[in-house]
Amino acid sequence: MKIRLAVLVSGRGSNLQAIHRAIGDKVFDGEIVLVLSDRPDAAALDFCAKHGIPSKYIHPGDFKTKLEGAAEQAYIAALRSAAPGLIVLAGFMRVVKPPLIRAFENSIINIHPSLLPKYPGLHTHARALEAGDRETGCTVHFVNEVIDGGKRIMQARVPIRPGDTEASLSARVLKEEHQVLPAVIKMFAEGRIDYASWPNEPMVWATHRT
Ligand code: GRF
Repeated sequence: MKIRLAVLVSGRGSNLQAIHRAIGDKVFDGEIVLVLSDRPDAAALDFCAKHGIPSKYIHPGDFKTKLEGAAEQAYIAALRSAAPGLIVLAGFMRVVKPPLIRAFENSIINIHPSLLPKYPGLHTHARALEAGDRETGCTVHFVNEVIDGGKRIMQARVPIRPGDTEASLSARVLKEEHQVLPAVIKMFAEGRIDYASWPNEPMVWATHRT
């Protein structure tokens, strides 16, 4: 059955593009029914316009790092009318709060650039480098009321190499994000992910997989 996807973005939208590409390549049977951005200048919105993907900038309200109050209600209403089967936070740089989470219980996932539970929050690559870690990666997880704390679905691991910078590391992780996120959405599309029965440990994405 075709999965209806709503995607929330704030900027570049490279994960949105990876989802769009996966649909075009028939990796899974899906449709992006709505893209919402909290930034009017997000490059992701240009991508949507170019590719005829329904998209909307909705003013995010007065807070810088969260969605609350009337703005949050506007996002919920827009999402409700699009009737997505799955909501994907893909580079969305705001914390979503209980009203939105509860409106779409266990149907919101996020892609985070670290091996959660390590480094929830921001500046994940700088923190991994600072700590002298030998590896890092990305995690797709269910969104709940704990920031980056929901059940983890899938992770990809990448090595940290001598001389790595935040830029080189984020580029290496981003490549994996663009594999893992479509892979998880494909599992949702094929009915292979049920929140209640999903274990507390994430699957590990094997990059060698064809
Ligand atoms: C990515 O690193 C993602 O992990 C994080 O936001 C960054 C930008 O994503 N959540 P995108 O290029 O806008 O999809």
